[in-house]
Amino acid sequence: MVQLSQAVTAAILATGVFAHPGGNVNKEILRRQAHLDHSERRNVQSCKRDLIGSGWVREQHQRREARLHELRVAAGFAQPGDLVRRDVGEVEEEYGVQASCTLDPEATEGPYWVVGELVRQDLLTGEKGAITHLDINVVDTSTCKPVTDAYVEMWGSNSTGVYTGVQSRGNGDGGSSSLVSNALRGLQPTGANGTATFITVIPGHYVGRTNHLHTIVHHGATLLPNNTIAGGTISHVGQFYIEQNFLNQVEKTAPYNTNTQKVTTNAQDMLFNMGKQGGDDPVMKISLIGSKIEDGLYATIDVGVNPKARRNPAPVNMWTSSGGKPYPNSPWTGYPDT
Ligand SMILES: *[C@@H]1O[C@H](CO)[C@@H](O)[C@H](O)[C@H]1NC(C)=O
Ligand SMILES: *[C@@H]1O[C@H](CO)[C@@H](O)[C@H](O)[C@H]1NC(C)=O
Ligand SMILES: *[C@@H]1O[C@H](CO)[C@@H](O)[C@H](O)[C@H]1NC(C)=O
Repeated sequence: MVQLSQAVTAAILATGVFAHPGGNVNKEILRRQAHLDHSERRNVQSCKRDLIGSGWVREQHQRREARLHELRVAAGFAQPGDLVRRDVGEVEEEYGVQASCTLDPEATEGPYWVVGELVRQDLLTGEKGAITHLDINVVDTSTCKPVTDAYVEMWGSNSTGVYTGVQSRGNGDGGSSSLVSNALRGLQPTGANGTATFITVIPGHYVGRTNHLHTIVHHGATLLPNNTIAGGTISHVGQFYIEQNFLNQVEKTAPYNTNTQKVTTNAQDMLFNMGKQGGDDPVMKISLIGSKIEDGLYATIDVGVNPKARRNPAPVNMWTSSGGKPYPNSPWTGYPDT
């Protein structure tokens, strides 16, 4: 596996492709390769037996099934009593194998991480798009138990592929209007089952990247009175993706269909391809709440982390009460011009 992935990495490096507008991703690819090669690397799949044995896989599947049903009832697409449950034996068998959406892919934070975002579940702040109820389970791959005391941070571009909180030549029209918004960014604590939930939109594509959501997992942080976190450590920096056929359908809906940036598919995205190596599956499992995408979506994914691991992602900006401000000495400052 190591041999194969190194060959793939070499091929990717040789093509010199760009992951962010005008930026070279070689460093990001090398970082992912170092993670794949790490002797202590484990993914959720290696915990499959323990997680099934403890009943966690079954419980979490049933919790999610019930939650999706609850969303369907609330939106008028189902009756309270008519939840049809899937066979749990089948669910347990498939756990950690493709479609079950487990990952530990360490990936780059990219040039658009804004530190100091708010702890909140609803990230929409007026943004339009395919509204997604996102359910993330965090598992400690060193103990095979859910991580109950972490903060999961999420951020993604809006439905036309522009990030809030930053101004950069590659971000939309490069204007400063997005600096004053914190939409589609925020954090949630994991709680009893290791679950963090968000309401966000399926991100749009932007030049050089397929549609993706960013995540960071924080441990030992302190909640401040203004609903931000401080301190602690970061064990995981990752990206979540959307299955291509489904993504094609999303891209046909408004306002995704007004995005004029060039499309990069999953298959053409080098970071996506790196993310899928080593038995990882960074693709979210997505269900329709109603009969079409516009009725809303329910997305789930399990993330394996080693809480003792230490990552040092670099924010480009920090969120303040008066908008995004440059983070001192950020290596991403001026990106992609530097
Ligand atoms: C944890 O999962 C169990 C089993 O599905 C569920 O009953 C419980 O409500 C969940 N707890 C939280 C805090 O989500
Ligand atoms: C995405 O953000 C940009 C910059 O703020 C804005 O111009 C654009 O209208 C937004 N897209 C949608 C669909 O609202
Ligand atoms: C929250 O409080 C911290 C500590 O006082 C401060 O540094 C930060 O700017 C505040 N964030 C916001 C969004 O007000």
